[in-house]
Amino acid sequence: MKIIASNFKTNHTRKSTKEFIENINKFLIDKNIKNDIYIFPPATALDRFETTNNLTIGAQNAFYVKDGSYTGEIGKIHLDEFNIKTILIGHSERRHILGETQKTISLKFNYFKSLGYKIIYCVGEPLEIKNQGLSQTLGYIQKQFEGIDLDYENTIVAYEPVWAIGTGVSSTVEDITQIHKKLSKKLSCPLLYGGSVKASNISEILDITNVDGVLIGTASWLEEDFKDIIDIANSKN
Ligand code: 13P
Repeated sequence: MKIIASNFKTNHTRKSTKEFIENINKFLIDKNIKNDIYIFPPATALDRFETTNNLTIGAQNAFYVKDGSYTGEIGKIHLDEFNIKTILIGHSERRHILGETQKTISLKFNYFKSLGYKIIYCVGEPLEIKNQGLSQTLGYIQKQFEGIDLDYENTIVAYEPVWAIGTGVSSTVEDITQIHKKLSKKLSCPLLYGGSVKASNISEILDITNVDGVLIGTASWLEEDFKDIIDIANSKN
């Protein structure tokens, strides 16, 4: 079984998210899809969705508090309202565009770990690090595990090289193979790949040893594209 996750990022409204989730839910039931599917809508579109067992709705982000004075952030009570128990932490856009430090990220990880959340924890190197070679890349990723309890049983790690995100250019099969082999030696949890995954490359990516699934942005935002991807992944089981 594989994990197929869709990160909506700053796309989809409350209305279109509802339609998307309802239609994907129906698709999973009609086609008897067995893989685990995750959808991460924007915070404004979270709701109490009725979904089949293998469709999980998660939050893209939340602050490490129950509630309080953190303008612009949401906390535990906002996730509880919709029974959300799954969260993305450490995404490269939050690290590099929104300026989240490893310290903040580890505080989030530990807070949501203490609440028993399923955490999809994202790591990945920028291009200038990749260009310095494999050991620099692994050293960079190693630092992204600082303060993170890799033994927490409800973790999924997503390796998403920053230079492959939203560029249309995925990492090569050779590079993914190499990095996933190294990472899987230190991780006991499922390990996803993310970065320009789409219908045309998902098959070869899912065939890579130690790739337990994918985290997809752009190619998952149109319902028909996401269905194609789910279909292709399903045909490999
Ligand atoms: P893309 O699929 O658009 O490259 O985004 C990947 C990603 O960041 C998923 O979290």
